[in-house]
Amino acid sequence: MIELDGLGKSYGTLHAVRGISLRVAPGEVYALLGANGAGKTTALRCLATLLRPTSGTARIAGFDVRTEPLEVRRRMGFLAASMGLYGRLTARELLRYFAELHGLEPADARARVEAAVETFGLAEFADRLCGKLSTGQKQRVSIARAVVHDPPALVLDEPTLGLDVLSGEAIYRFVERARERGRAVLFSTHQMSEVELLADRVGIIAGGRLVAEGTADEVVAQSGERSLARAFLRLATEAAA
Ligand SMILES: Nc1ncnc2c1ncn2[C@@H]1O[C@H](COP(=O)(O)OP(=O)(O)OP(=O)(O)O)[C@@H](O)[C@H]1O
Ligand SMILES: [Mg+2]
Repeated sequence: MIELDGLGKSYGTLHAVRGISLRVAPGEVYALLGANGAGKTTALRCLATLLRPTSGTARIAGFDVRTEPLEVRRRMGFLAASMGLYGRLTARELLRYFAELHGLEPADARARVEAAVETFGLAEFADRLCGKLSTGQKQRVSIARAVVHDPPALVLDEPTLGLDVLSGEAIYRFVERARERGRAVLFSTHQMSEVELLADRVGIIAGGRLVAEGTADEVVAQSGERSLARAFLRLATEAAA
């Protein structure tokens, strides 16, 4: 459902992503762990058709990001780590706008928006201007916006960035529910606890390469360490050396 195949992306002479291959099946949650600058956002932005791969490719539901970007976008919800919201729309108006942009009929759009307001706990501030929301409130609206059309593939760059424990919980519940409903979920994070709680599999990215992959237990076992945090430290440093 989500596939990266030898994906590479360079910015001039800087090779940010160097041949990453991975698959996320429907009903599977896959976490990308990597230090700052490891290449996570670059890989996810290629997948979201916002960057053109330098080599290899990525596909969503079999559609290639290079040749069929519109088909890809239709089937994917993408949360960017630093996504702008239209400050002069209320959260509800914004969600409505995106639902309709995705081609939903007004009645369906309204229903989806209300479902998203409920799922992400937006009720309290849904009629306030996005520009006046707090960081965490904006983040929750951004996620709701990314998934309002209920796509089969979810690509989330640091979905719980800036969220308090309670809001983080709402995102976790959302991801669990997405898995139950057969969605393919690929997300990046710096939180080991999130990987252990949510992910069926984890991939560790260092220096633009996938240096380990498997269930959290498998990755820990491969590394010869006792915890995911230690496994991550070892793999990330070995790759850098
Ligand atoms: N637009 C750009 N132009 C040039 N270099 C870039 C650009 N965006 C990212 N880079 C570089 O590419 C590398 C990978 O960056 P990327 O944002 O993909 O990392 P990341 O894994 O998402 O890191 P973080 O955990 O900090 O979000 C870094 O060395 C970064 O400086
Ligand atoms: Mg990033």
